[in-house]
This record gives sequence, structure tokens and C-alpha cells, in this order.
Amino acid sequence: MGCADGGTSIDLWRAVLKRLRSRCPSRPIELIYTDLPRNDFSQLFRTIHGQAGIHSYLEGIDNVFVLASANSFHRQIVPSSTLHLGFSSTASHYISAVPTQVSGHVHMVGAKGKERDAFKAQGARDWERMLLARASELRPGGRLCLFNFGIDEEGRYLGCTGGVSMFDAFRDLWSGLADARVITNEERAGAVFPQHYRTVAEFTAPFRNTASPVYAAGLRLEHVETRVVRCPYAVAFAAHGDAAKFAQGYIPTLRSWSEPVFAAALSSARTLAQRLAILDEFYGRYESLVAGSPEGHGMDYVHVYLVIRKAE
Ligand SMILES: C[S@@+](CC[C@H](N)C(=O)[O-])C[C@H]1O[C@@H](n2cnc3c(N)ncnc32)[C@H](O)[C@@H]1O
Repeated sequence: MGCADGGTSIDLWRAVLKRLRSRCPSRPIELIYTDLPRNDFSQLFRTIHGQAGIHSYLEGIDNVFVLASANSFHRQIVPSSTLHLGFSSTASHYISAVPTQVSGHVHMVGAKGKERDAFKAQGARDWERMLLARASELRPGGRLCLFNFGIDEEGRYLGCTGGVSMFDAFRDLWSGLADARVITNEERAGAVFPQHYRTVAEFTAPFRNTASPVYAAGLRLEHVETRVVRCPYAVAFAAHGDAAKFAQGYIPTLRSWSEPVFAAALSSARTLAQRLAILDEFYGRYESLVAGSPEGHGMDYVHVYLVIRKAE
């Protein structure tokens, strides 16, 4: 049985399944995708069934059974000792609760002192819980391959690799709406991403401590490394040089994952139309910012890659 999160490249999964099939020609393969209940699973099954012009990555690979689970990865998802390979990319930074508001910022990367410590503690609790859930699920000898957003050895993280910091831009623009009295100060303070970016030391701590519950559960770290993947919109802009085109392509991708955080901060006393107008104004300002001075903008990925094995 394999377990994966949605959204991953269909070519990658095809390659993985073909290799697996060549190693085990006759065994059934059960593939379970997991995401939160609000996730649009229909997109996933379009790629599996090859609808609307998208080819199915299962074509020509028989005896594969695909299921979806709408359970949080903070809990056990599949029965104990049934999982051979677990895969997750860019997801584990979502913590189960926001431990505190962040003074003067919208993300933990801008938190200091006790507020930063509170995120670190929440991140450690959730990391241990997530690993223990996977430890129960894995068969002895099974592996987890995790591509986690984090903070690398040079202090870089998503959208902050030397140019304009994406999260600082979010903070400045959101604060600008409060200064212009488009939103209230309460709404300004209410926007906090439910995320914690762990450092390599934080990711590896449960494996280095042989007295930890994670180590006792049999999980062993086989590999860890950090990598930066360049923002495709910024890379394309470097080639075409059209700032408006860059901004028009780049901002919707930021909006796709950040909008729920800002939407949730808006007062429920506002009508839906008012809230949508504020969000349009917010992302419109971000687009104007990038179109007007595009240099340095971009959302480079900073990943901490981990390979973990369950001891036999
Ligand atoms: C940045 S997207 C990454 C999607 C995909 N893995 C990829 O690499 O393109 C993060 C995903 O994690 C999901 N997610 C967040 N918290 C989760 C949780 N507690 N349990 C399961 N999925 C979660 C989100 O719904 C979202 O689909």
C-alpha cells in the first residue's frame, strides 16, 4: 500500500508505478491520496481517469487501485502496519492550531521572542504526532519520503531567498489596507498563516534523540538535504521581461493558497460581496506592486527533503 498527497506531478507517479510494477509484476498496488475534506479531489481523479484532454498516468499499468482519504495527516490515516511507502510534498508546515497572533506580521517567519517560541513548540508537537502516526502505519522496512517546506542553513524559506520577501509583502499590503481604513485593526491582527517552517535541526531532532517516542517507535532518518527550486514565474520573467505578464501569472498562484488566511481574518459582519471586494483590492495591490517593480519578486521553494525508514 502506498499513501501520497495530491497535486504531485503525474509523470513522477507514472514513473514510480512503472518501476514498482516491474519489480512486482502480479501484486496489486493500492494508492491512497490524502488531503483535507475541503480539497477538490475531483481534480485528482481527472488525472487518474484521463478526462478533459489529460492523459491518465495509470494507462497501461494494471492492477492499481486508487482511493482517497479526507483525513488530516496529523492523525493516523491507514491501518497499522499496512503502509509500504508514504510520500508527501510541501504540506507538513500546516500546523494543527495557530498558537498565537504574530505582532506586526502575518506569518511565523516574522515572529520574535515568545511568539516565535510558541510556533516552534507547536511545530515540534505536530511533527512528533505526525511521525508517530506514520510510524504506526508503516510496515517494518517501509519508508517515508517527505519534501517539506522549511528554513535552510542560510535562513532561506518560501519566497525569501534574497530578493523581496513574499511574506513581508503580504504583511505590508495587508497593513496598508488597515492604514487606509479598508479593514479594521482587529482584521489586520487576525491574519496569521497556520504554518510553521521548521529548520533542519527541528526536523531531525526526534531522530537524533534516541530517547524520543519517534525513535522508540522505530523511525530512523536515512537522508536529509535542503534544496531551492526557483519560482517558474520569476524564471520566465527573466526570459520575457514583461512585468505585467509576470504579475498577472504570479499573483493568482499566491492567491490560490493564501486567500483563506486573509478571508478568515475579515469580520463576519461584512457581507460576502464586501469581503470579496477587499480581497480583490488586496491582491490587486500586490499585482500592481509586482508589475511596477518586478525585480526580486518570486516564490522560490525552499525544501527540506527527508527519507525515513521504519526499522525491521
Ligand atoms: C502547498 S499544497 C501542496 C500540494 C501537493 N502536495 C504539491 O506538492 O503540489 C499543501 C496541501 O496540504 C494540504 N493540507 C494542509 N493541511 C493538511 C492536513 N492537516 N492534512 C492533510 N492535508 C493537509 C492542503 O489542503 C494542500 O492541498
